[in-house]
Parts: sequence; structure tokens; C-alpha cells
Amino acid sequence: MTTTRARRDIVDLDRARVWHPYTSIDAWEKTEPIVVTRAEGSAFWDADGTRYLDGNSSWWVAALGHGHPRLLRVLREQAEVLAHVSLAGVTHEPAAALAEELIAVAPRGLSRVFYTDNGSSSVEVAVKIAVQAWRQRGAPKKTRFLALDGAFHGDTLGATSLGGVDVFRRPFADIVFDCVHAPFPSADAYERAFATIAAMVERDKDTLAAVVVEPIVQGAAGMRVYEPRFLSELRELTRKNDVLFIVDEVFAGYGRTGRMWACDHAGVTPDVMCLGKAFSSLVPMGATLVTEDVFDAFRGGKDRALYYGHTFCGNPIGAALAREVLAIYRDEAVVAQVEAKAPRIRAAFDRIAALPGVERVRSIGMIGAADLAPSGAGGYLGDAGWRVYEEGKKRGAYLRPLGDTVYVCPPLVIGDADLDALLGILEESVRAARR
Ligand SMILES: Cc1ncc(COP(=O)(O)O)c(C=O)c1O
Repeated sequence: MTTTRARRDIVDLDRARVWHPYTSIDAWEKTEPIVVTRAEGSAFWDADGTRYLDGNSSWWVAALGHGHPRLLRVLREQAEVLAHVSLAGVTHEPAAALAEELIAVAPRGLSRVFYTDNGSSSVEVAVKIAVQAWRQRGAPKKTRFLALDGAFHGDTLGATSLGGVDVFRRPFADIVFDCVHAPFPSADAYERAFATIAAMVERDKDTLAAVVVEPIVQGAAGMRVYEPRFLSELRELTRKNDVLFIVDEVFAGYGRTGRMWACDHAGVTPDVMCLGKAFSSLVPMGATLVTEDVFDAFRGGKDRALYYGHTFCGNPIGAALAREVLAIYRDEAVVAQVEAKAPRIRAAFDRIAALPGVERVRSIGMIGAADLAPSGAGGYLGDAGWRVYEEGKKRGAYLRPLGDTVYVCPPLVIGDADLDALLGILEESVRAARR
């Protein structure tokens, strides 16, 4: 459907009726939104004709860019044949073949696929799988979780319970379930952080169902990166203490950090792996992969089944797209492209590090981030990143920040010219926001 209304009407209708995610109502009412009419490759266009480079792949989804022709073709073809049927008592080729293809590329040892319909529900079901598996293995007291400070695993209540970003968690602090938050293993305090986590797991192993982490990089916390050895040491620690290890690859998976799975940096296989976002790229869907051991805990009578399932889980369009995504990764050597482009991001952030008002920078794969000097309430509620965002808009880039942290997470297939332009606009905008 093409846009038929005038730009101004769309903004007015929106202001009157739409409640936007992660958005302060007061701030929204004061700013002029981008009104997107189409998207292609690494950019989208406003109704007024302005082209914006998509600095965060539209919340990290468009790893293959917008409107990849192969994905559009599959979308059309699958929609015409079989758009939706529930996965209850039914199967179909897209769901069955996708599971096989996922297991072929997943860390060795994962063998079963549970379909969900977004990243949060991939995590939500992982939580339920962990608790029910322990109950059915005769350890019903193992109901608690350990996650990291700064963790973000989505917005359903289970995912919120695991979350460690205070501002997202605070309104629900009285109703979330029991999750202990452990220190983030930053490079300068790694040994101390790991020792604390090891002590927590050893002390609480009889009540802990699982340790849950975003592998290698915490996205919403501000693109915080940790060393691969943390994953291998956690794998060992959880195995030794009979605690499940859940890895949430919703953000870091699909090549974002330079490996197909962020887990691959450490060569580890978790007990449970959560996928979403780039997984199906054009429509909401996700998947939770488990080992045979975990799956076996659900065998037996009717009362041992996993009574869980979202209406659109295994949706044929989403599954067909997810298969095509994997095929494109193979045919276009997408992960190898990251290796070639990552140095450009690193070099730009090294330059940005020297700008006034920039406190520290980091980059890995197709992610680069800079913490600006705290402003306003600071952290996620800070204003510094939003000043850069406004400057970026004037220059043709969409640079939605995480409060005082600005970052880029462009499509993995972005061309060199667009990548350089995006990085140049960020650099310019950081400079201009200080003037
Ligand atoms: C690591 C991680 N897990 C889970 C989610 C939730 O995914 P969704 O927004 O599709 O529910 C996100 C979203 O940003 C994420 O970054």
C-alpha cells in the first residue's frame, strides 16, 4: 500500500492516537517525527523525500538491509500458498525444513527447535522450559535465575524479570520473579566479577534453574562488550553445578559480532539458545533451540508436555523467510562481509574517541558505540545522545541513541560508501551537538 495522505495528516493522526514504544510522551509531542514511506538497502525515506541511513538496522532487524529481493520474493510466494496455519497437530515444510537447517548451523549439540513469535517470547519460553525441566527431573526448588547487571532480554514479564537495566525494571519491581543480578565482567574487573558469580552459583545451585546472558555484547545496556572467556568459564561453571545455561542471541546472533553466533567466539554450546530479529528479518518470529537432554525432560505422560505456544509460532511466512535468511547468509558470505567492514567502524570510533565530550568508545563486528559525558538524568535517561540524534537527522542519518550512548549497528550488507557516510555523519553530529 502506498501512502495516500499528506505528511502533515499522518503526523496529526499519529499524535492523536498512537502510543510509541520506549518514548516519552512529552518529548514525542515536541519533536517532528520522521514519516517513513519506503525503505531499501541501508536507508529509508521520509514522505518529504529525505533519505536517512538506518543507523540501527531498525532495532537490529535488517541485518540483510531493507527489502532484500530474495526475501521479498519468498514473502510473496509463501503468502500466496500458505500464509498461516497453527502448529498445533499440524506441520508444514517451512517449519520442518527450517528446524533442520537451523540445527545444521547452530552450535553443535543443540538439536530441537521451539518456535516463538518474537525475541521476548524466545526468552520467555526459555525461562519456562528451564523451570519445568528441573521440576520434571525431580528438582522442583530450582526456580530462580541469575542474569547480569545491565542485561536486556525483552519486555514480557519473564524477560523483564531477567532484565538488569534499572529504568526498565523499576515500575515492575514488585511483580517480577526471583532473579539475582551479578556484576558485569568488564575487562578491568573481570577476575573479581567472575569470582563473585562463581560464588553465587555455587552457593545457590540448589535453587538456580539457569544462568542467562546476552553473549559477548549487551545491547540495550549501551553495547557493552565482554571477553569470550566469560562464556567458556560460565559454561564450565553451570555444567559443574547443574544449572542450565541460556544464551540470548536475539541481538548478537546472525553475524552481528563477526561470528554467526556470538557463542562461537568461545566455541561453547549453551543448553538453550534464543533467536529473533534478523532470524526472520521481515516479519515477527523467533525460535528457542535446546539440547536433546533438555527436550527429553518433557517426554512421558500428558502432564509432562510444555503447555506453551504463541498463535503465530512457526508461521509459514516467518519460517520460509527464516530459511531464506540462512540461504542468503550462505550465498552472500554475509559473516565474512562483517570481517571486511568491521575495521572501518573501529577506525571511525577511534577518531570519535578523541572528540570533546566523548568518554569512551568500543566496537566489535558491525557495532560501534561511544559513551558521551553524562547529561540530564544520565544513563538511558540522559539527553546527550538525543542531541546527536537531532544533528544526525539534519545530515541524513537515523542514529537513535541509548540515552547518553550513541552507536551504530548498520545492516551487515551495507555498502562501503554508505557505511563511510553513516560513520562520517555520526562523527560530525557528535561534534555539532557540543557546539
Ligand atoms: C538481547 C535481546 N533479547 C530479547 C529482545 C526482545 O526482542 P523483541 O523486541 O523481538 O521481543 C531484544 C530486543 O531488543 C534483545 O536485544
